Amino acid sequence: MRSNTNVARRLDFDRDAAGYTVGRQDADPATIRSVLSCSPSVHDVLEIGAGTGQATLALAAEGRRVVALEPGKNMAAELRRRSGTRKISVVTSDFESYAPDRTFDLVCSFDAYHWVRQPAGTRKVAGLLRAGGHLALAWSFRILAHEADQDRANEVFAAAEPDFARTWPTFERDSLRAIHEGQLETVESGPFDLVACFAQRRETTVGPDGYADFLASLANGDSVTADLRAKLRRVLHSDCGLRDLTIVSVYEKRP
Ligand SMILES: C[S@@+](CC[C@H](N)C(=O)[O-])C[C@H]1O[C@@H](n2cnc3c(N)ncnc32)[C@H](O)[C@@H]1O
Repeated sequence: MRSNTNVARRLDFDRDAAGYTVGRQDADPATIRSVLSCSPSVHDVLEIGAGTGQATLALAAEGRRVVALEPGKNMAAELRRRSGTRKISVVTSDFESYAPDRTFDLVCSFDAYHWVRQPAGTRKVAGLLRAGGHLALAWSFRILAHEADQDRANEVFAAAEPDFARTWPTFERDSLRAIHEGQLETVESGPFDLVACFAQRRETTVGPDGYADFLASLANGDSVTADLRAKLRRVLHSDCGLRDLTIVSVYEKRP
């Protein structure tokens, strides 16, 4: 995913941190294990844009020490609450202002790296990694699992927020294209080679409110009004499938 130039929206998630936890699923532990298996000895991890811990908790559950950067004060507080006694150090900061006196084995970011200013961001990542360290960037794309559900939802979005619409025939192609553009941006910034890319799919069942909760967790989630929720409730079945396509790119720091 290329960097997002609409930086004014990057703290929008902080308006409802608890709602973010409800709307987003935690990362699939299998995805986290696949990321960790790309790099031989990962003890210390820096996570950029940790949100309320969607990937952080799973990284810590795999026994890694995690420094979780999260600029939103409410998001960071919710992440601290969810972290409990795990080995997670939450730092309330954006990546651009973070200046540690140490290096990491792995820098990773889930659904957040497009908010980091480029190309300076990727050069800074390289400076924070030990020799041979890795950068793992993941994004999840979501669509209603049944095309007819998505088509009915798209009719609702046409009048409310066209950006929410997804098209079944082009969903995977559009997702891969967005990832490919971001890979070019990352490699062109200089210090990294792309060494692995993998995709994982999973399907969960959500009610129409679950889908609205997910939409509300997006940067433009303030478009999810009570009226939009009511309309989604009318057109979707009480239980509908949500498909999640997560694509991970792993880069190695050049010698
Ligand atoms: C879509 S959320 C992703 C949260 C979580 N990682 C997940 O997988 O759901 C993006 C997060 O990036 C954070 N963020 C935005 N700009 C950032 C920056 N420059 N540096 C670090 N984090 C940033 C936001 O506060 C937000 O919590």
